[in-house]
Amino acid sequence: MITIALAKGRLAEETMTLLEKLGIDCSEPRSPGRKLVLTDKTGEYSFILVKPSDVPTYVYHGVADIGVAGKDTLMEQNKPICEVLDLGFGRCKLAIAGKPEMRDKQNTSGSWRVATKYPQIARRFYGGRGQTIEIIKLNGSVELGPLVGLSHVILDIVESGSTLRANGLEVFEDVCEVSARLVVNEVSLKTKQAEIRPLIDRISELTKEREEK
Ligand code: PRP
Repeated sequence: MITIALAKGRLAEETMTLLEKLGIDCSEPRSPGRKLVLTDKTGEYSFILVKPSDVPTYVYHGVADIGVAGKDTLMEQNKPICEVLDLGFGRCKLAIAGKPEMRDKQNTSGSWRVATKYPQIARRFYGGRGQTIEIIKLNGSVELGPLVGLSHVILDIVESGSTLRANGLEVFEDVCEVSARLVVNEVSLKTKQAEIRPLIDRISELTKEREEK
């Protein structure tokens, strides 16, 4: 049996659509009720429903063989798991943003406060250019940071840009592109090779076909 860590939230729909294209029955995870461990009709696959930021943890510990996680989550946690494919969906970017009047003030302040859900990425980004910052870790609604004076800027996900616009903020600079990645437990990749390899190949083909359209 292959156990799949299914992230609840914005990657869920496209992940299940992809699995269904592979012939994996997702009727249980599509209407799970309060259940967290589910199976497909054949009993070949089980699903665990997890928070997106916990996908790498379940895969790293091997309680899930595979999972789908955003590149942002993988970069932040940097866990030793195999990132085998860029799935091409869930495309967005990580960016530095703030109030327009702060744009030119970037990099000049001695105590630059950055609010983010991604403290490690922020540390690496600013550290790479030798800038010392104070990181304020938030767990959501990061855009509030500059609005209430908690931080000078944010480092956050920008997808449509509508959350920034609605709050009078704008992108100052891009940090990196983000998309959904297929991740596999390192041990499972060896011990369940016969099942997992063909799965990766089929997902790779489907992803290529989709990108060519
Ligand atoms: C993310 C991100 C931004 C928003 C960006 O938050 O942190 O707030 O989406 O999307 P947009 O550019 O399309 O507006 P999420 O919806 O995951 O909720 P959160 O604020 O609770 O983290």
